[in-house]
Amino acid sequence: MQEPMELMDAILRRRSVRKYQEKDVPEETVKNLVEIGNLAPSAGNLQARDFIVVRDKKTKEALAKASLNQEFVAEAPVNIVICTNEKKIKRYGTRGTTLYTYQDTAASAMLIMLAALEHGLGTCWVGAFDEEAVRQILQIPSYARPVIIIPLGYPAEQPAMRKRAPLEEYLHAERW
Ligand SMILES: Cc1cc2nc3c(=O)[nH]c(=O)nc-3n(C[C@H](O)[C@H](O)[C@H](O)COP(=O)(O)O)c2cc1C
Repeated sequence: MQEPMELMDAILRRRSVRKYQEKDVPEETVKNLVEIGNLAPSAGNLQARDFIVVRDKKTKEALAKASLNQEFVAEAPVNIVICTNEKKIKRYGTRGTTLYTYQDTAASAMLIMLAALEHGLGTCWVGAFDEEAVRQILQIPSYARPVIIIPLGYPAEQPAMRKRAPLEEYLHAERW
């Protein structure tokens, strides 16, 4: 494992990594990342999200194809697919099933991506995919939706920080 990294440092150093070394990622590390993902806040602490860990080469290739041929999805040693789970969020009615469960997945994804840095791993948030294809490949039930695929592996590239909009373009004071 790498040296512990300060949170701000991790936030500043995170990049979308799309090239990985051929080195495998230990199972314990992946389990730890999923547990960390589930430490993220969730509506009513209902943890309305599920994680599918994919290592199988053929399955990853199918996921890459479903992800509009984003080959790096197959090249990563591991994919973590984060899904909503409507069953777990029923208590909150439509707001729960159309909003909270998605927020639950996004919060988890972000923690996984930051915690991955601690293990020296690079990740990328993949949201562009054919949802029905992914559902078929991973046999996801109708009450769940695959939302985010996170390919992860030891980085074989060090991308520069992508430019962000200036603060005044997105910061509103007191009102929109
Ligand atoms: C909702 C969402 C969907 C994304 N989908 C993809 C994707 O399908 N493929 C990809 O390569 N990157 C995807 N990204 C990653 C963005 O391209 C990336 O975060 C952005 O360019 C900023 O770069 P950075 O992550 O290195 O800071 C996605 C990010 C988000 C938040």
